[in-house]
Amino acid sequence: MSSLEVNAGAPVLVVSCSLNPASRSHTLAVAAGKALDALGAPHELLDLREWDLPICDGKACYDHPSIGPVTDKVAAAAAILIASPVYNYDLNAAVKNFVELTGQAWGEKPVGFLCAAGGERSYMSPIALANSLMFDFRCHIVPRYVYATKDDFTAARAPSAELAGRVRQLALAATELAAALRWVASRRNGRAGRGDERD
Ligand SMILES: Cc1cc2nc3c(=O)[nH]c(=O)nc-3n(C[C@H](O)[C@H](O)[C@H](O)COP(=O)(O)O)c2cc1C
Repeated sequence: MSSLEVNAGAPVLVVSCSLNPASRSHTLAVAAGKALDALGAPHELLDLREWDLPICDGKACYDHPSIGPVTDKVAAAAAILIASPVYNYDLNAAVKNFVELTGQAWGEKPVGFLCAAGGERSYMSPIALANSLMFDFRCHIVPRYVYATKDDFTAARAPSAELAGRVRQLALAATELAAALRWVASRRNGRAGRGDERD
């Protein structure tokens, strides 16, 4: 049975990747949780500020006591939403490190992005991580993406109504993609059960 089928009814994991205590992308992660609540979709917030994660060295880091729990959360997720700052026309180093630490647990997951940026010109910033997730782990990238700059937030740093609407659309698209992929996986398994894998 593929991981997609095993994950039926599992939570959407929202990973908040900014390490800034006054993070705007964190408010996007919280808004995504509210949107998933409204859809009746189980979800969990993983805030990287709350985890003592080592820098990936490809070896001893995997023995760190935080690695097992966070890897289990990724593996158990029906879909993953990455809420990240834009740094240097890319996502931040913390999310790249998180992916390096949790690796194969991302296999075949639907993954969506919500980004907070300083300006409008870094719109393509998630593309490098999206590509690596597709090539390394066969992730399915949600074909909708939330990009927000300071002007999209209220003075109290909350997402504007328009931005909250875009977050809701992403949450819906992620849950729909997860459901569609589970359906595909169940058909694949049905064919395998009938010894009929080529139809
Ligand atoms: C080191 C660093 C690099 C940044 N690079 C970019 C960038 O390339 N493009 C951009 O639009 N904003 C850039 N910014 C601005 C951040 O994206 C912006 O402050 C955003 O709100 C950060 O997300 P956060 O509030 O969730 O931490 C950069 C900020 C920092 C600290």
